[in-house]
Amino acid sequence: MQMSCGKIRCKIGPSILNSDLSSLHEESQKLLSCGADYLHLDVMDGHFVPNLTFGHPVVKCLRSRIPKAFFDMHMMVARPEQWVEPMADAGADQYTFHLEATDDASTLIRKIKEAGMKAGVGIKPGTPVELLSAVLPEVDMALIMTVEPGFGGQSFMGDMMPKVEYIRRNFPQLDIEVDGGVGLATIEACAKAGANMIVSGTAITKSHQPKEVIDQLRSTVVKYL
Ligand code: DX5
Ligand code: ZN
Repeated sequence: MQMSCGKIRCKIGPSILNSDLSSLHEESQKLLSCGADYLHLDVMDGHFVPNLTFGHPVVKCLRSRIPKAFFDMHMMVARPEQWVEPMADAGADQYTFHLEATDDASTLIRKIKEAGMKAGVGIKPGTPVELLSAVLPEVDMALIMTVEPGFGGQSFMGDMMPKVEYIRRNFPQLDIEVDGGVGLATIEACAKAGANMIVSGTAITKSHQPKEVIDQLRSTVVKYL
């Protein structure tokens, strides 16, 4: 299924935020059956962002029903240090925190890796990419937010693409994830800029043809790898 020839591979990670959360397991399983490479799970605490979602107890239950899929935890929380152990215990594979939420990213990254997870670090639209690049040699993935974090279904901010280009130029082998408003109308810009991990929420979960959307997102990204 992966069509890239380089080391960087295209991975499509649907966000289940705007799906029917009363059927989280079925919704997740459906997305995986449609070809999702991983699940992007949005954790919000009502402090770092003005919204609430779910925490590690829900992730642990989901993991018990879905033993194998890669869980990328998008931690939109004010104290990311606090949830590293609980998320590792719940079965998370990657812990993606926000640079804005910590004073000591290096220590946090070490803690995430010691807990057996991959480390991702993201920035909100107002944060300069130069601040992020200082910690990128230590992480597995950079996340460039293409909306203000907090809600699904917002409009894609195309003016974030120079950040993606900057990271791809300076870190050719790093996984770069984009998140927010990414769908068939905006994937070309992301792919061209160098993103290879694609989070897409409503464009997939609200579509009547989620498999076709995932396939098209992937075929656009692989054109530029
Ligand atoms: C927003 C979340 C996103 C969001 C994506 O704060 O981090 O993952 O759910 O949803 P869409 O693709 O609908 O913008
Ligand atoms: Zn997200």
